[in-house]
Amino acid sequence: MSTLSTAQTRDISHHLHPYTNAVKHTQVGPRIIERGEGIYVYDDQGKQYLEAMAGLWSVAVGFNESRLVQAATRQMQKLPFYHTFTHKAHTPSIELAEKLVGYTQGKMRSAFFTNSGSEANDTVVKMVWFYNNALGRPAKKKIIARNRAYHGVTVAAASLTGLAPNHRDFDLPLPGMLHTSCPHLYRYGLPNETEEQFATRLADELDALILREGPDTIAAFIGEPLMAAGGVIIPPRTYWQKIQAVCRKHDVLIVADEVITGFGRLGTRFGSDLFQIEPDLMVLSKQLTSSYLPLAAVLLNEKVHSVITRHSGELGTFGHGYTTSGHPVATALAIENLNIIDERGLIDNAAQTGAVLQNALRSLSDHPLIGEVRGTGLIAGVELVADKATRRPFEPLGKVGAAVYERAHDYGLIVRGIQDTIAFCPPLIITPAQVDDIVDRFIQALDDVHKTL
Ligand SMILES: Cc1ncc(COP(=O)(O)O)c(C=O)c1O
Repeated sequence: MSTLSTAQTRDISHHLHPYTNAVKHTQVGPRIIERGEGIYVYDDQGKQYLEAMAGLWSVAVGFNESRLVQAATRQMQKLPFYHTFTHKAHTPSIELAEKLVGYTQGKMRSAFFTNSGSEANDTVVKMVWFYNNALGRPAKKKIIARNRAYHGVTVAAASLTGLAPNHRDFDLPLPGMLHTSCPHLYRYGLPNETEEQFATRLADELDALILREGPDTIAAFIGEPLMAAGGVIIPPRTYWQKIQAVCRKHDVLIVADEVITGFGRLGTRFGSDLFQIEPDLMVLSKQLTSSYLPLAAVLLNEKVHSVITRHSGELGTFGHGYTTSGHPVATALAIENLNIIDERGLIDNAAQTGAVLQNALRSLSDHPLIGEVRGTGLIAGVELVADKATRRPFEPLGKVGAAVYERAHDYGLIVRGIQDTIAFCPPLIITPAQVDDIVDRFIQALDDVHKTL
């Protein structure tokens, strides 16, 4: 990685970065990203990168949408901050809540705002506990998530996350946060197992886990409709129907974490639409504001909403909330961002241009390093393996993925290496020609790395 001018003129050691090897960082320095334009970002040496990860799976409308700047500016000038505690409100947060509920065609009843996806998932945990206390079921508190899930990094959210680096030496997960199998057929399916058989086996496993723990102790099941940060993992056919049936049987709430799949990523408004999930709670963030400002939302259906609101009346308050819950500038910006997604047909674009991406990547399947190509809409993963026939991974896991990630920068392409899966998640405004460009640059980086093995 090149050392760039800001890194040379400033003391970079004062900035402790998230998800970064702090020792290596002092050696390689940061790549300073200075500006954005459409699907591209530029570093402080003027080098252009096609941002095929939309930043952190999050920038729907591109990196210089002036309407969002204007919407934020207008609200900044009018009312830069006010809170939503104790019966105060402002129009943008009310309007956004109404808009989000409207998008679910009334399946969800209300919205609670937080600043990040992690906070939203911590909020979900507290809502689920509060709900069961309100119903006089103090033992019904455990939450089941999945191995390889990503739900964030705050204490409860990180406990739900099913990835070792988020637990190791953080003394997590918390007690009562359980994990069941990851629905990835390619890696965890049995020989000759069909998608349907695999889905049945996982649903049976969930049922057995709930019975073993005691149904009166299990409060909720949380899942990303399609697992993104765990490696872009699409559930096998019939998975969600079968999992939901088990949850309903045991009166276990269903939480859809749509932080990445919300607002068109899969070519449908929500991932729940694609997989016919009927969540009791839904978590939204990222593309909600295209990440121009921090904002997330928890949507509650009538069943949960009615219990929580009633109990807040009994206690005198719902004792939870953030100074900036529903921040007026963030919510005003979100409304404009969602209007742009609708006006420009970006959800349809994700379906159509997403098909171009999926086909182009699948056409690479014969490549000697490529084990599996997976994805739907504008999200995809290409898993690299040491042996295609046996699916044997590289050792150490992640080294080849990191090499491809690094090499792609030389071709002006930003992807992500998740272990040895290369992830793609470009802005929803991308065109078919730009998708071809991603694939061309990717294959060059992949071939370069191949030659070094
Ligand atoms: C599905 C999902 N949930 C929650 C989060 C956490 O969101 P944040 O990073 O805003 O805390 C993420 C972040 O990538 C995510 O992908």
